[in-house]
Amino acid sequence: MSKVLTALQPSGVLHIGNYFGAIEPFVKLQDSGNTNVLFVVDYHAITVPQEPEMLRKNIMFATATYLAAGVDPKKTLLFQQSHVPQHTELAWILNCIAHMGELERMTQYKDKTRGKGEAVTVGLFDYPVLMAADILLYETEIVPVGEDQKQHVELARDLAERFNKRFGETFTIPKPQIRKEGARIMGLDDPEIKMSKSAKSEKNFISLMDDDKTIEKKIKSAVTDSQGTIKYDEKRKGLANLITIYSLVTGQTNNQIEESYKGKGYKEFKEDLAKHLNDFLKPLQNKIKTYLSDETELKNILDQGAKKAQILAEQKMKDVRNKIGVY
Ligand code: AMP
Ligand code: TRP
Repeated sequence: MSKVLTALQPSGVLHIGNYFGAIEPFVKLQDSGNTNVLFVVDYHAITVPQEPEMLRKNIMFATATYLAAGVDPKKTLLFQQSHVPQHTELAWILNCIAHMGELERMTQYKDKTRGKGEAVTVGLFDYPVLMAADILLYETEIVPVGEDQKQHVELARDLAERFNKRFGETFTIPKPQIRKEGARIMGLDDPEIKMSKSAKSEKNFISLMDDDKTIEKKIKSAVTDSQGTIKYDEKRKGLANLITIYSLVTGQTNNQIEESYKGKGYKEFKEDLAKHLNDFLKPLQNKIKTYLSDETELKNILDQGAKKAQILAEQKMKDVRNKIGVY
């Protein structure tokens, strides 16, 4: 049994790539008996401009989505990052042992700031240190993340080792666990790149909240090829992606899917896929809507999670404050 921690940004409507790539794998980990921590990183979100009302809505939407997907507050410590002020307190202390140079080397920072000049915030620069604090407060062993976050988890390891060396054993050294490529969903309009909500065209992604008509339209216009047969072949990227989605929402294997579409074409396959996707998403959408309709209850769940998290985080902070000599 390991202590598993991860966090997700409250960035608006999620798509089926987020669902199958991040949320569903977390729910599976939760059900395998690990000790889990999952939180909504609102203080990471504000490293880029956020409209306050929108941010509030997105936090509620993210929480409702995790709950609807099966995150169980009895098994998982679920809360909102800003409600546990120890995260920012530890981030400050870690700031004082982190080096400018190692943060300047972060690939995500370089990507996000290219060409932005003066408009780059200190928060964006410091983002990985807050993430290190998130991880180190809870004696985390395993951090499941996408490939792009691996470098940040490695920074958390470096900072933990540096702190332990200077002040004595305090932090558990965490390990990143990179999600398998298996559930990587590609864009419907361009299967060369992964499905993303920042894509140019709305037709790139299926949002978790899309209705049946929208799903039908998007699947219908999804890029395939001129071969016409339903056969999984990695080289036929568009079709392979659609078969992957078909398999994820129906639980059928690629072979079973190929069998049932022998002698049939894209039209029929796509019509069925749209229907299966809709059947899969409808119950999830209904659950999300039910959670969203009772904001008091949602806030209650987050508050209770925060109370439990504060106890753990405060224990760790007492040790940290003591070690550095401010207590
Ligand atoms: P993002 O909001 O794009 O940073 O994604 C949040 C989480 O969803 C990350 O952990 C990603 O690994 C995962 N994710 C995003 N897009 C996809 C995709 N197209 N396929 C699989 N997983 C994805
Ligand atoms: N930076 C992560 C992302 O954008 C989110 C995150 C913040 C996180 N704190 C974390 C992930 C701690 C894992 C552990 O996806």
